[in-house]
Amino acid sequence: MNIVEFIKKVPKTELHLHIEGTLEPDHMFKLAKKNNIFIPFKNIKEVKEAYNFSNLESFLKIYYEGSKVLIKEEDFFDLTWAYALKCKEDNIVHTEIFFDPQTHTNRGINFEIVINGIYKALQKANKEFGLSFKIIMCFLRHLSEKSGFEMLDHAIVHKDKIFGVGLDSSEIGNPPSKFQKLFKKSIEKGFLTFAHAGEEGPPEYIWDSINLLNVKRIDHGVQCLHDKILVEKLCKDKTPLTVCPLSNIKLRVFNKLKEHNLKKMLDKKLMVMVNSDDPAYFGGYLNKNLIEIQSALNLSIDDIKTLIINSFKASFLTEEKKMEWISKV
Ligand code: HPA
Ligand code: ZN
Repeated sequence: MNIVEFIKKVPKTELHLHIEGTLEPDHMFKLAKKNNIFIPFKNIKEVKEAYNFSNLESFLKIYYEGSKVLIKEEDFFDLTWAYALKCKEDNIVHTEIFFDPQTHTNRGINFEIVINGIYKALQKANKEFGLSFKIIMCFLRHLSEKSGFEMLDHAIVHKDKIFGVGLDSSEIGNPPSKFQKLFKKSIEKGFLTFAHAGEEGPPEYIWDSINLLNVKRIDHGVQCLHDKILVEKLCKDKTPLTVCPLSNIKLRVFNKLKEHNLKKMLDKKLMVMVNSDDPAYFGGYLNKNLIEIQSALNLSIDDIKTLIINSFKASFLTEEKKMEWISKV
């Protein structure tokens, strides 16, 4: 079996995926029409042309704009169901997804509509083809901590569905310290914590996510290589770093895939794995991320196995399930 076939067929898990980032342009158009929502594009071609980002901020503007077409529970269900089918296609057997409730509640959509639509679709996927899942609620870091506390109150009501809390949106200028009290309360209420850090922002934001927010994983984390002591700590603690190669190129964290630092991270024995982040915006789902980064960095089959096994290890599957899947890899 060649390496591309291996990547496609091997069972995988995904740990860094924003469900709103799976909204494909044709689906966006259909929903805009159905719900009578204005979007600033005439056709799918115009949408795709707008996906030429210069940094994280320029992407987020379009990403939040696109999310406005999601109105009813069935819209969140259909969005999530479409992603679940992609999981099946890519042989993803377990996924831990993010959702951004403030993107929706701030335009008058009830929290219940959002969480119920997402949860019901994942439950159906679990029943029909065994996809296991966790749901992580992200706080938008460009908004206030007070707004985050309001979301946490909702999450507490839906503790049976929401496993953890994360931190996303504009990184630079919105340091982890802004959310220290919110994360403390989240932990007290039984949520595990995660944070995007070191995507565009400095290594200090990774340090602070660990020390102030007590995170279980760092999302992205690619800037860690600028800090030798940090790298030593991440290695020693086996802190997972959920790297997203196509995202990093689209948002110009690296100029091209050949310049991506994933191989360097692997060689330093950091606990890295590959994810798709916002696949509808960044040009590909998990298999495409793996196939393209393998080719660009000439990763060996052992590198690919390490990435996939790391991902199972860093997931919140039971130890028994982890072992079962890892033995299949
Ligand atoms: N970074 C920060 N916020 C986000 C991202 C990301 O990669 N994707 C969706 N929201
Ligand atoms: Zn992300």
